Amino acid sequence: MLNVGMLTSGGDCQALNAAIRGVAKTLYHYYDDVVIYGFTDGYRGLMKKEFRVMTERDFSGILNIGGTILGTSRTQYKYINEPLEDGSDKLESMINTYKELNLDCLVILGGNGSHKTADLLRRNGLNIITLPKTIDNDLEGTSVSFGFNSALEIATNAIDRIHTTAASHSRVFILELMGHKTGWLTLHAGIAGGADIILIPELPYDINVVIDAITKRTEQGKKFTIIAMAEGALSEEEAAMTKKQRKATWKEDGFPSPAFRLGSRITAITGQEVRVTVPGHVQRGGEPSAYDRVLATRLGVEAARLIVNSQFGLMVCADNDQISTIPLEEVAGKTKLVNPECQLIRQAEDLGICLGQNV
Ligand code: F6P
Repeated sequence: MLNVGMLTSGGDCQALNAAIRGVAKTLYHYYDDVVIYGFTDGYRGLMKKEFRVMTERDFSGILNIGGTILGTSRTQYKYINEPLEDGSDKLESMINTYKELNLDCLVILGGNGSHKTADLLRRNGLNIITLPKTIDNDLEGTSVSFGFNSALEIATNAIDRIHTTAASHSRVFILELMGHKTGWLTLHAGIAGGADIILIPELPYDINVVIDAITKRTEQGKKFTIIAMAEGALSEEEAAMTKKQRKATWKEDGFPSPAFRLGSRITAITGQEVRVTVPGHVQRGGEPSAYDRVLATRLGVEAARLIVNSQFGLMVCADNDQISTIPLEEVAGKTKLVNPECQLIRQAEDLGICLGQNV
């Protein structure tokens, strides 16, 4: 008899169900007597003993379905020491559930924040295996996370669509894309969608350089400029501030998000009409791309193989075209940033894309 728990934690993304299915199908393939406990809404379900005993049928027909059949929630690690509503300790509750159900292993599908809690559970003696999910692609230890490719397709499609309307108007268009504090999604979508300016958090932008790039395009007779801007992108002035100063400045200016702030500066300086598009959670929604289905399935299969071999404390990761593993402690609490010196940045600059900095 093998008892396996599964949960999805943090913001959802495409191909979570494909990964869940990959784990389950492989386990059922190797064991006749496996019991899979699906915890509801992430760590919250583990804390509150809210789960479903899954059957093989639960994992059918979900390969191409977005979201997660288990539900998810954000359980921020920084509040892990704050008690639950009923006063019980979060960590203790999770360990108790694991022990009461006599689990042999807990499979956690999560991003950056979720890995800190996963590693905490590992340090407290639980058998943990994790899978890297996030549209942000900012998880250390894996060359790519599932969800990223699907979100990239959507973000690129959004830029493509802006192109056709932009071509009809003399305007500056800013697309604000997700990615939290990293620029993976914006950099890739910006290149794939042919953006003229790409702004990412790893390269704080000089407003004068952005204005020069727009003005140059106008002088060349180009009617429009498309800016792909990461939600976490900062101007050089903002990057030089403390987090507290930034928050205060933003509260005072009252803009709903960075793209609106930049748009207002562009209009003030150039007089050009600006339109802002924020695709938001659309980027995380809908069906997974074929690439993500394959990636998530492969990660799921390898996770199940680790369980079969009693190997725990690992994140299953992509090492370019190979699926591999990395110890959880090497991943937890780390963010994978775009390296400003990387080849892709240099190639974007070679193409003449403005990255907000003087080259
Ligand atoms: O981490 C994934 C992500 O979609 C980020 O890109 C974004 O900043 C954040 O989640 C949005 O979080 P929420 O769904 O909680 O609003």
